[in-house]
Amino acid sequence: MTKPFILDLVKRMSLREKAAQLTQLTPLYFGLDDDVDVTGPLGEKKLNAEDIKHIGSVLGVYDAAKFMKLQRKHLQENPYGIPLLNMCDVTHGLRTIFPIPLAMACSWDMEAVRQSAVVAARESAYMGIHITYSPMGDVVRDPRWGRVMESPGEDTHLGSRFVEQMIAGYQGDDPRQPERVGVCFKHLAGYGAAEGGRDYNTVDLSRGVLREYHLPIYYAAVCAGAVMAMTSFNTIERVPATVNRWLLRDVLRGEWGFDGVVVSDFNAVDEVIAHGVAADGREAAAKSVAAGLDIEMMSTHYLNELDKLVAANQADEARIDESVIRVLELKDNLGLFDNPYKDCDPIKSEEVNLCPTHRQAAREVARKSIVLLKNDDGVLPLSKRGTIGLVGPFAESTKVLGGWWALGQEEEWVSLNEGLRKAAPRLEILAAMTGELARTRNGGDVADEVAYALYKLHPCDTVLVAVGEHPEDTGEACSKTSLQLSSNQRKLIQALSEAGKKIITIIFSGRPLELAEVHARSHAVVQAWFLGNESGNALADVLFGDYNPSGRLAMSFPRSVGQIPVYYNRLNTGRPQKSEADHDFVSCYLDSANAPLYPFGYGLSYARFEYSGLKLADEQSLTVAVQVENISDVDGIETVQWYIRDIAASVSRPVKELKHFEQVSLSAGEKKTLHMKLTNEMLAFYPETGSEKAFEQGLFEIMAGSHSESLTSITIFLK
Ligand code: GLC
Repeated sequence: MTKPFILDLVKRMSLREKAAQLTQLTPLYFGLDDDVDVTGPLGEKKLNAEDIKHIGSVLGVYDAAKFMKLQRKHLQENPYGIPLLNMCDVTHGLRTIFPIPLAMACSWDMEAVRQSAVVAARESAYMGIHITYSPMGDVVRDPRWGRVMESPGEDTHLGSRFVEQMIAGYQGDDPRQPERVGVCFKHLAGYGAAEGGRDYNTVDLSRGVLREYHLPIYYAAVCAGAVMAMTSFNTIERVPATVNRWLLRDVLRGEWGFDGVVVSDFNAVDEVIAHGVAADGREAAAKSVAAGLDIEMMSTHYLNELDKLVAANQADEARIDESVIRVLELKDNLGLFDNPYKDCDPIKSEEVNLCPTHRQAAREVARKSIVLLKNDDGVLPLSKRGTIGLVGPFAESTKVLGGWWALGQEEEWVSLNEGLRKAAPRLEILAAMTGELARTRNGGDVADEVAYALYKLHPCDTVLVAVGEHPEDTGEACSKTSLQLSSNQRKLIQALSEAGKKIITIIFSGRPLELAEVHARSHAVVQAWFLGNESGNALADVLFGDYNPSGRLAMSFPRSVGQIPVYYNRLNTGRPQKSEADHDFVSCYLDSANAPLYPFGYGLSYARFEYSGLKLADEQSLTVAVQVENISDVDGIETVQWYIRDIAASVSRPVKELKHFEQVSLSAGEKKTLHMKLTNEMLAFYPETGSEKAFEQGLFEIMAGSHSESLTSITIFLK
């Protein structure tokens, strides 16, 4: 029920004042400088000083004192005393930076994920931030897309659990509470399926695929209580998401019952024109209003067209009032009418930012996000004594925050070199060629430096090689056609390999890179992603065995770009390849295996786990059970992954789908029995058409194991 004071405000506001309340601008337009890089094109905006007094929300005030001053000025100038809403991109931490979301998803530790958001919310709330544009719930299958770093990966189940826990961490039970912020989940919908992995490119998904793989994660965000949703740049069935009535009215509001606020992405209303679905700003505004978009981010067609549209009977003022009411109710639900500053507190902000508790939390999440991809001859964990070589552009770099680093500061990051030396003061570390991130891009010749590095590292049998992609090559508008390491880095690895060194390659990247050659030349491969402030400490924890690596991939690593898209929950096709040698009229490549280099769910431990005894333990409750034994002499954490396959149904079903996972700690030699209860929700799917999932009886394969390509299975008939 809308409160009378809100209805009264709407009644008193002019149409232009309502349109301004539905407009979101960066601090620049409020006479402030932009705290962080602006996240989109700054086109020409048509607005005047009077309009600014009525603007409803600001995008990106990352400074407590500055926001207090801005809010105070706004309240003095706004004749209705309506407070400003401050929204920012806090996606993996604000000042204490956690691993990029794709890395955190590789932890499969949902409590760790929640904790990261608790810390991010605490730092954001005292900074004067009310809402964060996070989590992103876009399913990704194409590492050429730079924004995979921001996604929870290729799987719908893992992605849904991830966004639920991020929202629980940010909002708690109520975002109005102290140290909490509201959530604007994004990008509705299917932005991660851009053709060719090229950002902002066309997305062409069938409604069935959309419902089966992409929409459930956004729905999980709605169920988790997100207070806002952001529309994506792309088209859905050739209609831009921002003006897509099926998506915003039928699905989001109708089927899912979402009653929060919908904001466009940056300038997306204006971009409806470029999409060729509006002749001009007026038509773009009319279609956005009709589709149910509430706030227009960083374009001003609502401001300049709504009054004309209503006057010409081309927009319904009652529809506009609905949006204004939703925005005012959101501000009221955050407590902003009672206290427009909420938790904003410059002193408290300085106290909590990067405090030891937050840094420790970041270190714990970071080490859980590291994935051990190869470890021949037990070359890892390292001894803390002796001599070891350290080379590569990420050896001493502190640029390991990855995209969307908010207020992260380079000076406060722990480099790999620093982490190693702190963890192993008696270890002699000979370092060479450790500078110049430029080497992470092609160009220049490093022959002399490689020769010098070989000379300097002559005493070392084992060398840590810290390589990867330039941190500014990951994130939005960072699509790439090559996923290879730069030629300089490849030359360094080749030279070390030909010199007979035991190579431990550590990969710093925001996406799966092409690592076939690295794999062949390295004794060990460690995926370090971009781990945030505590990167060096977390890597040292894993490399020395102070933490037994437990990370598992949330996204497949292709052997080559030519394989893309390669993902685990593929359809079988009518001519599946029966073995790698099978090339006769089957679905395969002449020059590559079908399987990825590293599959979804994969990751090594210093321990070794064995699965046995998978069975239907209880027919009544449809509970399956499997035994997992730690057959090594090292304690470890195993992520038991449960998959199903619907053998025959009215549509082709994936060869496997993750339906449950559980992390279990097993001491050396310990064995445990794990259970999974089969539910209708797990077994049902979206048939050819329709908005409801359906279960179809028949044979199902139930699988359990360490990762998607290492599973034990049974087949049961379910009805
Ligand atoms: C950007 C991004 C979106 C972000 C928004 C505000 O273009 O697409 O994820 O939250 O603009 O910065």
